Amino acid sequence: MPQYSFNDIPRVEGVKVAIITGSNEGIGRITTRELVRKGWHVIMACRNEEKAQAAIQAIRAQIGVVDNDNLKLDFIQLDLASYESVRNFVDQFHQRHLPLHLLINNGGVMMPPFGLTKDGEELQFGTNHLGHFLLANLLLDDLKQNVPSRIVVLSSRAHLRHPGIEFVDERRNQPYPDTGIVTYRARAATYGQSKLANMMFCKELAERLGSESKVYCNGIHPGVIKTELFRHLHPGITTRIMSPFMRTVENGSMTTLYVATHPDIETQNIHGAYFVPSKHIPAPYIRPAEVAPNPVVLDKNARERLWELSKRLTGLTNTI
Ligand SMILES: NC(=O)c1ccc[n+]([C@@H]2O[C@H](COP(=O)([O-])OP(=O)(O)OC[C@H]3O[C@@H](n4cnc5c(N)ncnc54)[C@H](OP(=O)(O)O)[C@@H]3O)[C@@H](O)[C@H]2O)c1
Repeated sequence: MPQYSFNDIPRVEGVKVAIITGSNEGIGRITTRELVRKGWHVIMACRNEEKAQAAIQAIRAQIGVVDNDNLKLDFIQLDLASYESVRNFVDQFHQRHLPLHLLINNGGVMMPPFGLTKDGEELQFGTNHLGHFLLANLLLDDLKQNVPSRIVVLSSRAHLRHPGIEFVDERRNQPYPDTGIVTYRARAATYGQSKLANMMFCKELAERLGSESKVYCNGIHPGVIKTELFRHLHPGITTRIMSPFMRTVENGSMTTLYVATHPDIETQNIHGAYFVPSKHIPAPYIRPAEVAPNPVVLDKNARERLWELSKRLTGLTNTI
């Protein structure tokens, strides 16, 4: 793939609907803006209505066209850390009788202090993986009914370092040790586990859909991007140590946008792949490239175990 920029996002014809989780901030917000600009109807799936409405106003102002009212941009409340909220979101989406062509599993938390979701699961695994597992499964028929359609899973290169999923509930949900650097290591490892789960889910779902499927499910690492994701780290770490290596949020949305909209995905029949922005070339460009994920992602047994665990925890009985 040569250099890629926002100009390469195709303008849509007819009605095309996307759901983007965690789209009031960061990468999700820019992804929303650029899709809406190209004619997509985007449903912003966010936990905080006030923040989502502020983001909608900001996106409208940034696009700044005269017929601004015709921009198709909506909000439906979604808290990924609550199965009840995920189910309510899907019900509300269905009440609108809209087709669905694109689901972007974007929302996430990184390295917060230890906490549990509403359903008693460790916060990072619960929010980043389980909430999205439930959401994608509940929306799968919508995506199948509107092919060609796509799912983009925001993983991270943090998934590469993680050795595997902790399948024992008590150990997975155990509070972090309370001593300085050890706490941070445990928080980081748990984030890595959640992002590994994202990529294992992506690969497993793609395989279950099959290579003939016109629902294209692929994962990405967006780069190291200056966003609020780092809010739980000491500010000095991001501003002094990481800042020179961080990409802008615009740059950070491009790998998602490539996998979400580029014709290559369909013409080359790409399923279950892991994309990264391979070269840090100056804005407004990136160079998306498919690379190898963590070998654990390729382990069918491990993926099936995770699928069964996720089914049990989310209470899903029938999945693909
Ligand atoms: N930034 C990076 O360097 C980087 C690198 C690799 C991967 N990623 C991945 O990229 C994705 C987007 O991250 P970002 O950098 O754009 O971070 P961000 O600016 O912090 O945005 C994260 C979004 O997720 C939302 N969110 C958090 N918990 C949620 C919940 N329980 N329910 C619904 N939404 C929730 C946040 O909502 P609130 O505003 O309400 O908190 C926010 O809108 C994440 O999956 C992250 O793991 C980012």
